[in-house]
Amino acid sequence: MAKRTIVAMPGDGIGKAVLEECIRVLDAAGFDAEYVNGDIGWEFWCNEGNPLPDRTIKLLQEHKIGLFGAITSKPKDKAAAELSPALKDKGFVYYSPIVTMRQKFGLDICMRPCQTLKGNPLNFVRRNASGGVDEPIVDTMIFRQNTEGLYGGVEWTNPPDQVYDALMTHPRFRDNFEWCPREELAVSTRITTKKFCTRIIKAAFDYAKKRGFDKITLCEKPNVIRETSGMMLKIAQEMSKKDYPGIWVEDVNVDAMMMWLTKNPENYHVVVAENMFGDIASDAFAGLIGGLGFATSAQFNPDSGVAVFEPTHGSAPKYADYAVSIVNPIAMILSAVLMLEHLNEMEIANRIRKAVGDVVAEGKVRAYDMLKMKGTADVINQGAASTKQMADAIIAKL
Ligand code: NAI
Ligand code: MG
Repeated sequence: MAKRTIVAMPGDGIGKAVLEECIRVLDAAGFDAEYVNGDIGWEFWCNEGNPLPDRTIKLLQEHKIGLFGAITSKPKDKAAAELSPALKDKGFVYYSPIVTMRQKFGLDICMRPCQTLKGNPLNFVRRNASGGVDEPIVDTMIFRQNTEGLYGGVEWTNPPDQVYDALMTHPRFRDNFEWCPREELAVSTRITTKKFCTRIIKAAFDYAKKRGFDKITLCEKPNVIRETSGMMLKIAQEMSKKDYPGIWVEDVNVDAMMMWLTKNPENYHVVVAENMFGDIASDAFAGLIGGLGFATSAQFNPDSGVAVFEPTHGSAPKYADYAVSIVNPIAMILSAVLMLEHLNEMEIANRIRKAVGDVVAEGKVRAYDMLKMKGTADVINQGAASTKQMADAIIAKL
């Protein structure tokens, strides 16, 4: 019997191709696991009215560790229109299965590493004072609160009486929004709780301590979003004082962060933020290390042990039907490395990480994105590696 069972959720589009190649790499590296298939994505929405069927939830409950490709997601009206005729007008409402998964399993801690791979032609470069070019080494871990905040899903268009009445008790609402007809009013909330702010900030401090960094950067906007960002700042400052005296809290507004990260990204090693700001910051940092072909993520619930690892890219539908898949599997493969690290399979994790690094540094095998090509089906003829060839090159280095 294999040592572990992993729930493999390919999802839609390129999710299928990258996960398949990723599992080949894991097998070649000697990771002793069996994979059970977890259904998720558009096909299951259209045919069953549920993009995250209960059977997949059961599998995750049982086996706890998920490797996830990517899904296709659409706004709810478009989703309703694509539902199979037998299910139409039966009350099915589309919700993103990723958000559902995060909320159902309380995967509140999301870690998104952005680390430079030497020799990646997509690495960020900056002009220095003497007119030359620097390539700063980015080594940043983004801690994103993954279940609350602006993505908590508590929102209304034309809010019901109780909500509207409650809003009217706030002087700012009365003064600035009372003029708006209710049916023309949309409200999305940004809810944060002390419990889950504390958990994400503590995770950031623990990581900083483990890596020997002397600060964490809170990427929020407490001067304007005074209640929710304010709560995070207060918790972080108190925690620094009480539990992590050698690690200080740098308070950088999210908008300023977007500017600083292209000036001096090497100054940020641990960044912590609410759900949406963490989403933005992690995409922005990912742009410095090669973008979607390289951006990985881990999300987990420290209490139940349920953890899901995935590249941050989506299903890239326009590339899904190519006879030979051209997308870069490195983001998926490095997401699996995060899984191995989570499972304390350090030897295998390190070997795969090194193999990926070696392939990138050597520069002989490059996916189309690394060659800065437009992603047509023809890139293979122009010298780009296919998804499979990239995985083969990594396997050869193992
Ligand atoms: P996307 O990430 O799927 O693709 C955007 C572009 O990035 C692609 O057209 C391609 O040029 C490039 N790209 C993505 N992955 C790549 C890879 N591995 N290698 C090389 N290039 C890559 O985002 P898009 O087009 O906005 O969304 C497509 C669908 O995916 C939508 O339905 C969206 O809702 C969904 N989505 C799902 C996510 C997930 O499953 N976690 C995350 C983001 C979007
Ligand atoms: Mg994102």
